[in-house]
Amino acid sequence: MNTLSVRAPLRAAVRPQYLQLAVQTYSGIAATTFNPPCGVSKRTSAFSLTSKRPISSTRQNQITEYFPPPKTPNVKEVQTAWVHPVYTESQMQNIRIAHREASNWSDWAALGTVRIFRWGMDMATGYRHPKPGEELPAIFKMTEKKWLSRFIFLESVAGVPGMVGGMLRHLRSLRKMKRDNGWIETLLEEAFNERMHLLTFLKLAEPGWFMRLMVIGAQGVFFNGFFLSYLISPRICHRFVGYLEEEAVITYTRAIEELEAGKLPQWNDLDAPEIAIQYWQMPEGQRKMKDLLFFIRADEAKHREVNHTLANLKQTIDPNPYQTEYSDPNRNHPTKGIDNLKPEGWERKEIFMDEPRKVEV
Ligand SMILES: [Fe+2]
Ligand SMILES: [Fe+2]
Repeated sequence: MNTLSVRAPLRAAVRPQYLQLAVQTYSGIAATTFNPPCGVSKRTSAFSLTSKRPISSTRQNQITEYFPPPKTPNVKEVQTAWVHPVYTESQMQNIRIAHREASNWSDWAALGTVRIFRWGMDMATGYRHPKPGEELPAIFKMTEKKWLSRFIFLESVAGVPGMVGGMLRHLRSLRKMKRDNGWIETLLEEAFNERMHLLTFLKLAEPGWFMRLMVIGAQGVFFNGFFLSYLISPRICHRFVGYLEEEAVITYTRAIEELEAGKLPQWNDLDAPEIAIQYWQMPEGQRKMKDLLFFIRADEAKHREVNHTLANLKQTIDPNPYQTEYSDPNRNHPTKGIDNLKPEGWERKEIFMDEPRKVEV
């Protein structure tokens, strides 16, 4: 099936002749695709997607393209303000599934909400993980396409909390005319990182209309829900994100396990997209799909640590420990890297903060 056939009903409904033109336009994209019942069609070699189009009367806004190159001839490249820290292979291999025990009612509220989300997402993406020794019906067998469906939905939601938290802290700083103590940058950087996860997967799969509708609906509900919740209790919201990231680590760990077990043969020799190689600075010899999943899983583990840590802090007075320069550099402190990940604990004393102190302007 042609990649565009997923969108064919929508195009045909608007103006049938555009469908043919659009297919011609994309004829240069070498695409191996398969049926998209979950709303995602997959390209196995779509990394070279360009905006080169044959002469066509089709209006630009009726052809969907991901990341077309800039049209201004003087622009060579757009730089990012948030350069990703370099992860070593051993650091990424050491990432483990971990869970922070809920210790009070607010932790349970956050954890319970995440479990409801998890249930809804499993339903939406047709996922069920087998218990040890359990053989699932064939309908629940995960394929490359179903994993990508799940990843895209997950990442489209995961990019929301950091942006909402950063935005609200920014507005609070303006409104109250007080310093933020370094939280905003970390939260916005997290949102940026999650969006890079999404953009990377969109180089591998193109969502169909059903997935797009789900993403729009989920964003509408989740953004507003998280916005209101963050106004009421940012601490519970960070705990919620910490638990959400625990689930993300589980998801990517299981995908890696399936890939290593030979259950995802189309990913065995699949190259990581160029956008990923540049963003994660993936070294030579570690630029395959499996490596990509290791990088993304490490990011999720970092989000897990950061949000559980932020949830331990006094929201309005504690500095962000990930942006702090400490008076004693010899003590072990939180960093932006993944060398100091703590798989369990995340108690306030464990992030080596002094007692909360008010930072005067
Ligand atoms: Fe992510
Ligand atoms: Fe994440």
